Amino acid sequence: MVVLTIKDKREICGNLVSAVLGDRGIDSFSYGEFFEGSPFLRIEKPSEVKVYEHRWSLEGIFRRYEGHGILEEFTSVYDDILIYELKRISGGPIELNLRGNLGIFTWFNPGLRKEIIRKVTFEAISERRAFQLSYNGTYYLRLETDHDVEVEVREDRVEYAVRTDLSDGDKLVVCTVASSSKEEVKRRASWAMQNPGVVREKRRNMLEDLLSKIPQKPEGVHRDFYTYLWYVILTNRCVVERHPVLKYPFNMPSKYMFRHQWLWDSAFHSVVLSWYDQKLAEEELSNLFIAQKPDGRIPHEIFLSKHLCKAIWRIDDYSPWTTQPPVLAVALGILFEKYKNKKYIKKILPHLIRYDKWFRDFRDNDKDQLIAYVDYLESGWDDSARWDLPIIKFKKNSQRYLGMYKRIRMAPVEAIDLNCLIYLQRKVIAYLCKELGESNLACEFEELAEKTKNGILEHMWDEEEGFFFDVFEEDHSHIKVKTPAAFLTMFAGLAERRQVVRLVKHLLNEKEFWTTFPLPTLSADDPRYNPRGYWRGRSWINIIWFTYWGLRRYGYDEVAEKLLKKTLNLMENSFTCNENYDSSTGEPLGAPDFGWSTLVLDMLMRKRPPLDEILA
Ligand code: GLC
Repeated sequence: MVVLTIKDKREICGNLVSAVLGDRGIDSFSYGEFFEGSPFLRIEKPSEVKVYEHRWSLEGIFRRYEGHGILEEFTSVYDDILIYELKRISGGPIELNLRGNLGIFTWFNPGLRKEIIRKVTFEAISERRAFQLSYNGTYYLRLETDHDVEVEVREDRVEYAVRTDLSDGDKLVVCTVASSSKEEVKRRASWAMQNPGVVREKRRNMLEDLLSKIPQKPEGVHRDFYTYLWYVILTNRCVVERHPVLKYPFNMPSKYMFRHQWLWDSAFHSVVLSWYDQKLAEEELSNLFIAQKPDGRIPHEIFLSKHLCKAIWRIDDYSPWTTQPPVLAVALGILFEKYKNKKYIKKILPHLIRYDKWFRDFRDNDKDQLIAYVDYLESGWDDSARWDLPIIKFKKNSQRYLGMYKRIRMAPVEAIDLNCLIYLQRKVIAYLCKELGESNLACEFEELAEKTKNGILEHMWDEEEGFFFDVFEEDHSHIKVKTPAAFLTMFAGLAERRQVVRLVKHLLNEKEFWTTFPLPTLSADDPRYNPRGYWRGRSWINIIWFTYWGLRRYGYDEVAEKLLKKTLNLMENSFTCNENYDSSTGEPLGAPDFGWSTLVLDMLMRKRPPLDEILA
């Protein structure tokens, strides 16, 4: 007899939220992005909202990891996948009126999460072998087992224990349902109930099939954790049927919270997927090119729902009017170094060239080849302290800036990371042009890259501080906010050696970037530093990835290894792959099972810095 206790079963809450909201028949609500009560989303005519069907390419999986306290998740995270399966036979509005921010903000709002959980009740049916979970009198989840189940609803979590014999582990059937009546519950539940074997078998086979293809485990990582990271990146993949833009399967950043396709997220996903399967890695970028606008812009995000996009961005489209950090070319360069797939590149290159031109036409008012962000969300660093001053400046004199850019929400900033990425984009384009025999174009892009590099070195380095800063486009004055965005100069290989020496000093300073979870998104000596602040002090794995490879590029292998070890240890200890981490305690924060956090795989597996060949 083993007692299996699954603590802090967020998924139940997540599922509950999905079920509650998804069942309203309004697609935006089922994506973990529900903003009821907030002024910017009001759906006046839900009947006009198109609902696309979802099909997860992987239909749910049993997680089977030993030695980490999670002996086995019978009930599996993947009951939310069941929601989607069941959704096809469900529908009909329910009488629920949840106040406040749910979905995406549930995790940022623990009070609300507690409130939901408090209202959740369990009802045992057929003694203790099956029970149902309900919220405000509506049933959402039914669990059935051949064994006894103990359920406890706590203040902020649901705990349930299944007494079972693990050698005969597959006895719990999970069925997630959403309905207003018990009868409905029964009817919907019956599908999964009648086919438990099918569900179980399918899930198990898929997991086994998937995991049988993962590359051999490198040194320096626990076997289970390594498998788990692959599980994360492979199970965020989804297919949206009959969507006008999302025509190819793609990875959602997190199937719990971020259910659209994002530009820089997908670039990172593609880098990781390239260790698994060429087709998946190339496919991950395909929708982004479909989404490219006639003027050349590759948009920030592709929403599942036009309606939600309109509500948030006031634009009648599947995508906002912004782009996101151009990591795309970096990913394409990495794919090319690995696969040398000229056919793919031939198809993609014209898109990339048009995208670069878009930056020149629409994000470079002073035409100095230093590109500007005109919107904080466009930066990917949503609420970073980097944008505090530019936003204030814009508010004081918006007319002035509206004269420079058609749409703009902060004084334009020539950002250090953005320009490192633009430099790399141009280097990648030049290299690929050369490969395809387009030598004139290659020269043109080499020159552009050089101009960007020189601009960075001339305007963004601060000799006194020994650091790189963002600058205002209008006068090239420094915005003195110290962030690890500066370390992208190492990733791009454009910092001078003497500059790197000084950067590494900042990096290894415990009062700045060498915090418990390293590389906070704002230096710890900044008065605004908050170790739990979204882009104001939490640590993110993509920033660690850039920095790790930057250090390696300059031969700082030991520092790089220390950085990776520190990061990996904390992730392994909590057995998480979260969106971000509290930089002072290492506590996992944000969305669970987050795509680009699997970049640690790339740091473990790659031998030479990415783009080495292209930058040589
Ligand atoms: C948040 C992040 C952004 C990311 C998106 C999807 O908005 O700030 O950088 O692309 O989530 O993961």
